Amino acid sequence: MITFQDVTIKYDDFTAVKNLNFEVKDGEFFTFLGPSGCGKTTTLRSLVGLIQPTSGEIYLDDKDITNLPTEKRDIKMVFQSYALFPTMTVYENIAFGLKVKKVEKAMIKQKVADIAKKVDLAAEQLAKKVSELSGGQQQRVAIARALVNQPNILVLDEPLSNLDAKLRVQLRNELKSLQKNFGITTVYVTHDQEEALTLSDRIAVFNKGEIEQIGTPEEIYEQSNSEFVCNFIGENNNITKLVTNHPERFDRLNLEENNAFYSRIEKLKISLFGQTYPLVEDELSFTGKIIDSEYYGIYTKYSIKVEDTVVRAVLKEKLSLGTDQNEKVQVILSQQHILQYK
Ligand SMILES: Nc1ncnc2c1ncn2[C@@H]1O[C@H](COP(=O)(O)OP(=O)(O)OP(=O)(O)O)[C@@H](O)[C@H]1O
Ligand SMILES: [Mg+2]
Repeated sequence: MITFQDVTIKYDDFTAVKNLNFEVKDGEFFTFLGPSGCGKTTTLRSLVGLIQPTSGEIYLDDKDITNLPTEKRDIKMVFQSYALFPTMTVYENIAFGLKVKKVEKAMIKQKVADIAKKVDLAAEQLAKKVSELSGGQQQRVAIARALVNQPNILVLDEPLSNLDAKLRVQLRNELKSLQKNFGITTVYVTHDQEEALTLSDRIAVFNKGEIEQIGTPEEIYEQSNSEFVCNFIGENNNITKLVTNHPERFDRLNLEENNAFYSRIEKLKISLFGQTYPLVEDELSFTGKIIDSEYYGIYTKYSIKVEDTVVRAVLKEKLSLGTDQNEKVQVILSQQHILQYK
């Protein structure tokens, strides 16, 4: 288990991360999610020992590793900037750690071939120099180099950022299954919410050097505990104005304590005007006008003007709209799905 206790890291006078407290359990896939500059890489660097916290402690199980040199921690890191050996071949790069450990030659060959296949590097690429590879290929070499050592802890800093969408999804699945099969405790950094939601057991959402929320993907998404988290993850409608214009209708919300209200776009329902929609429980219906639609194939996103608020909704089925651009619809909001903040 990894434990961060009150960790603060400063660069001179600038506080990059402040009072970090979290635990990563054995075998867990734990993700740091947050916008650029919020302190994700800084935190990772302190975990692998490339930087010392200004205050606080880092533990591996019960052992205080705060001041332990990097090489004495069994932690492998894939850097945001790969840090490969540019003049060595791909094979040599991947095999490096195994050679240092004096693993038998035939075994190294086998292991490198296996892992290269898993990250989609063709056999002929193994003989190339790293400097001759594309960014995405280099990224895969860096992942292979870390995985081939089967470390207890793997630390990955935006390892998929240079890949095209399809390869990213493929490698993401591969990473997840390798991690689960080997039981590697993984600390992963990304600013991509989809990656965080699909890969992680738990997520820590960073904002300006502090952790705003730690939770499972479902908790982070369904019960975002701050306006920042709610806005950073998922697609939202800010419905504050609509709510405050109709306080008597939104009887299930806490209007005295809160003054910011959001609804996730997939929680809105739409019913064509004139069709009856049987409202249930805490649902409310508002009249709106469709002002725009975007067709994505598996779903369609609609922009609807409700009073002076434009809300977006995502529907699996494309609405069979008439030719009139400003078609009237009913927008149905379920109060239990409204996120509310101070
Ligand atoms: N060596 C350094 N010296 C001074 N300030 C630094 C140094 N490294 C990082 N910082 C600052 O610390 C803050 C956090 O940086 P960090 O690299 O941890 O962010 P990040 O969350 O990894 O961002 P990104 O998503 O862009 O990689 C930033 O404001 C950055 O400018
Ligand atoms: Mg970074």
